[in-house]
Amino acid sequence: MADKLVLAYSGGLDTSVAVRWIKERYGYDVVTLTADLGNAGDLGVIAQRARAAGAIAAHVADVREEFLRDFAFRALQAGAIYQGAYPLATALGRPLIARLLVEAAHAEGATAVAHGCTGKGNDQVRFDVSVGALAPHLKVIAPAREWGMTREEEIDYAARHGIPVPVTKSKPFSTDENLWGRSIESGVLEDPWQEPPEEAYQWTKPVAQTPDKPRYVEIRFEQGTPLAVDGEDLSPVALVQHLDEAAGEHGVGRIDHIEDRLVGIKSREIYEAPAATVLMAAHRALEAMVLTKDQLRFKEVVAREYAQLVYDGLWFSRQREDLQAYVESTQRFVTGAVRVKLSKGQATVVGRQSPYSLYQTALATYGKGDLFDQSASPGFIHIWGLSTRTQARVQEKNPRPQK
Ligand code: ARG
Repeated sequence: MADKLVLAYSGGLDTSVAVRWIKERYGYDVVTLTADLGNAGDLGVIAQRARAAGAIAAHVADVREEFLRDFAFRALQAGAIYQGAYPLATALGRPLIARLLVEAAHAEGATAVAHGCTGKGNDQVRFDVSVGALAPHLKVIAPAREWGMTREEEIDYAARHGIPVPVTKSKPFSTDENLWGRSIESGVLEDPWQEPPEEAYQWTKPVAQTPDKPRYVEIRFEQGTPLAVDGEDLSPVALVQHLDEAAGEHGVGRIDHIEDRLVGIKSREIYEAPAATVLMAAHRALEAMVLTKDQLRFKEVVAREYAQLVYDGLWFSRQREDLQAYVESTQRFVTGAVRVKLSKGQATVVGRQSPYSLYQTALATYGKGDLFDQSASPGFIHIWGLSTRTQARVQEKNPRPQK
């Protein structure tokens, strides 16, 4: 009996061809696994297509809620944005799919797993490293990294082997989608001087077509997790879908960015992430209210480190887990509501409240009821400025080095 392999299967051309190619090249019986992170379409149809391509079994899994709860919302709490621009949708999806591959491999008694990534991107790294972290004994195969076929040759290969493939027209971009965002690259986007054509975007309206009347959304968080919009409790999936629609309608969440890939290439990446953009802004605003300046300062450092780990395929590292523990602790008091105004491509926080707010009107006010003791300021400033005055006295002349 042949060894088994579990292939992450999207239902597209690459992975459909891969089912047959793996059998031919490596002799494995191929089991497919399709995970719905908010992108998959009809899972039943995809499973059928997998079997038509030659899979001995086709598994599907709706993991949308798990993806948001265990990956996207944790990144939200961490404030993880790669290079100040990318909310990491694709990067957060990969470790979950890798874990599902490993689980399926164990259930099936498979000795290998496979994915459809090429050899130039970050995703191959994320899959390979994540599988290695969870099941170092499993072999990982990436057909598209090995076979060197062009798109046309893949289509020929499919025709020769009677593999039904969904699309035959070449697509203008390479895209990846899940509930946290949409990643768009290649084609005309490879010219960084060219403005992305409107057709690159699917979730967000161009500003010229957005309503003139702003829309307000009120998001309620509990311990850093978004739970309700406009007073209505929503499941994670419903909440994110709702915000995607509301924000996309106002053109919020378009990102155009030159990004540093892990493999050393700079690439031009376009993203659409309406819900993520709104939630990150709202969450940050709430934290600004309930965390001290020391917590906020250190958390920024953690956010950058966390984003880098996620981007670099190190989700299942002890370092990420340790940072997670810190992040989780910081969320204890991140409870409250934030009001965000959506208008003309912008999501602007215009109001926030929390039972744990460190903002105290009696301290901040210039009006009546001021509790801040201004007579204590001169003494405080005298000590605070002591080292600066000492330095000014002693090193007064700012001399140049002696020749
Ligand atoms: N550059 C992004 C990342 O590395 C997105 C990759 C998206 N993949 C795609 N096939 N378009 O996370």
